[in-house]
Amino acid sequence: MVASARTEPRGSMAMELTTGDPALTARLERGMDASEEWLRALAAEAQDPCVAEVAGHLFGPGGKRLRPLLALVGAEFGARAPVGAAPSAAVEAAAVEAAALAELVHVASLYHDDVMDQARTRRGVPSVNARWGNTTAVLAGNWLLSKAAQLAAELGPETIRLQSKVTNRLIMGQIRELVGPSDDDDPLSHYFTVVAGKSAALIAMALQLGAVRTGAPEHVVQTLAEYGEHLGIAFQISDDILDITSTSEVSGKEQGKDLAIGVASLPVLLALADERPEAGELRTLLTAATAGPEGGGLPRAVALLHRCGALAEARTVMHARLLRARTAANGLPDGPATRVLHALCDFVARRDH
Ligand code: IPE
Ligand code: IPE
Ligand code: MG
Ligand code: MG
Repeated sequence: MVASARTEPRGSMAMELTTGDPALTARLERGMDASEEWLRALAAEAQDPCVAEVAGHLFGPGGKRLRPLLALVGAEFGARAPVGAAPSAAVEAAAVEAAALAELVHVASLYHDDVMDQARTRRGVPSVNARWGNTTAVLAGNWLLSKAAQLAAELGPETIRLQSKVTNRLIMGQIRELVGPSDDDDPLSHYFTVVAGKSAALIAMALQLGAVRTGAPEHVVQTLAEYGEHLGIAFQISDDILDITSTSEVSGKEQGKDLAIGVASLPVLLALADERPEAGELRTLLTAATAGPEGGGLPRAVALLHRCGALAEARTVMHARLLRARTAANGLPDGPATRVLHALCDFVARRDH
């Protein structure tokens, strides 16, 4: 991973989540490194040097690698013989393929999302659209998705089923966000439908994929999916909060982007949901959309979101989701991997400020 000023480095994340189990830490870090290497090689081997450069753009700076980590943790629930033994080389390889596939779909979605959001910065570097333009970013995102489909096809029908379903849910989530709620829709229900598709689906699928590929029992796969759906929604809420509260040096993205382009993030929806005194001014600032950093309205909008209690309420909603994730995790076999899932809930709870 390229050194940067960001605060969510990959290596320490695996370590932080697995305290007291050095063998598991080493296995997860080895898997994350191997999946990263696999992805870099995939881009480098593109027949066209331009495609290689654009497709590999975000594999250099890396990210938190949350989805690869989840795929590897999911694989810890796979069948082992004898029970409790360290995984064989074949099982580790299957886990790495699951991790690479999950990150491939994620990075493709980032390329497309940055076009939609007109983002200039991603993972602390210029976004693909900022550097090469929207058309190239969309095509390169499609290239990554085509590679994900190719890999899934090599891995078998169950993997294709998961990969195609998650891609569809992701795209539907993005489309629903773009279209917005209809007059009959409750904006908050619409929000949860959007984030379930655009964020939670892939987080759940990463866990499922790791578990399926290593022979975990069906009820465990289903419980992991349930956990992932709740964790994913909580993760997106934390991302919404960080959009408002975190600087670009920390997040690697532009601060206040959702506010600037009028994305209905949870704190904003909550602030506008009822008639609190700050809602009118906030609505005016946001409608000027241009309220964002360029318009100079961002500090004022942030202050209003704090003052009216919407940021605190969003945190409460996030904690409630994390509780549901923990409840699902309680249905999993007790052991180091389940403890990682609980630690991940703590990680998400901590990253909202
Ligand atoms: C960004 O995901 C997209 C969301 C679902 C919020 P991450 O915050 O995991 O991005 P990277 O992978 O660390 O760059
Ligand atoms: C988009 O959510 C998630 C996907 C990439 C599909 P956001 O728009 O909030 O993600 P960021 O904040 O740009 O990473
Ligand atoms: Mg975005
Ligand atoms: Mg965001």
